[in-house]
Amino acid sequence: MTHAHITAWVIALILFFVAVSMQKGAKSKSQKIVHMTLRLFYILIIVTGAILLIGLSSISLMYVLKVLAGIWVIGMLEMILVRGSKGKSTGMFWGQLIVALVVTIYLGLKLPIGFMLF
Ligand code: HEM
Repeated sequence: MTHAHITAWVIALILFFVAVSMQKGAKSKSQKIVHMTLRLFYILIIVTGAILLIGLSSISLMYVLKVLAGIWVIGMLEMILVRGSKGKSTGMFWGQLIVALVVTIYLGLKLPIGFMLF
């Protein structure tokens, strides 16, 4: 499930950058499709993350922080795209996105479930 979780957020980040790059210029239908597909991946990230959580016998504070940071990342992706499409400023949200991503990936890698390859 760790692989599915990582695949989900890596694809989501790629879709996010594609959607951002398509925002320049006129509003297009294809940009909306990429954005909607990205929203589907938010669900996949949350579902795979929740399955990882269900497998735990107890949930420590670090896990609570990991989940909150993950949701923070998703929130920032959405804010940047929605505000960008309205022509509003996104600088504050880009800053938060970088901090949230670093925190989430750090906590994800530090927490013990790992890849469970063996
Ligand atoms: C875009 C947002 C997210 C990113 C970038 C992200 C990133 C990561 C990374 C890098 C790992 C470590 C994988 C490994 O062990 O090798 C991980 C694990 C995990 N993530 Fe996420 N995640 C995100 C969202 C979420 C959400 C929303 C949830 C909860 C619903 C969640 C729950 C978990 C859990 C429970 C683990 C297992 C931690 C462990 O190894 O013990 N994640 N995530």
